[in-house]
Amino acid sequence: MKEISLHILDLAQNSIRAGAKNIVIRVLEDSAADTFMVSIADDGCGMAPEMVKAVQSPFVTTRTTRKVGLGIPLFAAGCENCEGSFRLESEPGRGTCLTGTYRRSHIDRPPLGAIADTVAMLISANPALHFRYEHNRDGCAYALDTEELRRILGEIPLNAPEITAFIMEFINSNEAELESMEVQKS
Ligand SMILES: Nc1ncnc2c1ncn2[C@@H]1O[C@H](COP(=O)(O)OP(=O)(O)OP(=O)(O)O)[C@@H](O)[C@H]1O
Ligand SMILES: [Mg+2]
Repeated sequence: MKEISLHILDLAQNSIRAGAKNIVIRVLEDSAADTFMVSIADDGCGMAPEMVKAVQSPFVTTRTTRKVGLGIPLFAAGCENCEGSFRLESEPGRGTCLTGTYRRSHIDRPPLGAIADTVAMLISANPALHFRYEHNRDGCAYALDTEELRRILGEIPLNAPEITAFIMEFINSNEAELESMEVQKS
């Protein structure tokens, strides 16, 4: 996949299918350690240990529409191809946490991509769920949290078009700010 945000979209959709109510997406970049870490944690149905093992091979899926589930193996392979690593922790009834790390400067490490579109789309399509997106780069960080938004918005639904536009604008401007801090440092 050309963009990490597309993996995030795919993995968050797994969380939604698993019945999660709370989904936390984290991006943690450390330029000194040369790591780019992505994690998706949910409180969905979780997976039994055999399933945890099996989903890391591309020939297992509980979906009936298609035989091969590729979301997790593609993400894992992408990380491993960039001198990184992948970890899947899951417990039935508690939830799942996937963590993928890339070597940040690796030539094949995909860009984060259109993360504002991804997060805004997830929220507008699932306004009843709690999403948190955090991006930390070398200690500079921001977060978008739908619980916080909901408190401010009161009656206005999270999928109102102007709220979707606000979420995109908020993420895009914060991403641009993180980007500009890196330029200042170098
Ligand atoms: N967060 C999760 N919670 C519970 N089960 C999960 C979670 N993520 C994945 N799974 C299980 O692992 C299977 C494989 O996931 P994967 O994303 O690799 O493929 P898929 O979602 O089945 O198909 P694709 O992503 O290719 O459309 C899923 O079908 C689901 O049963
Ligand atoms: Mg999937």
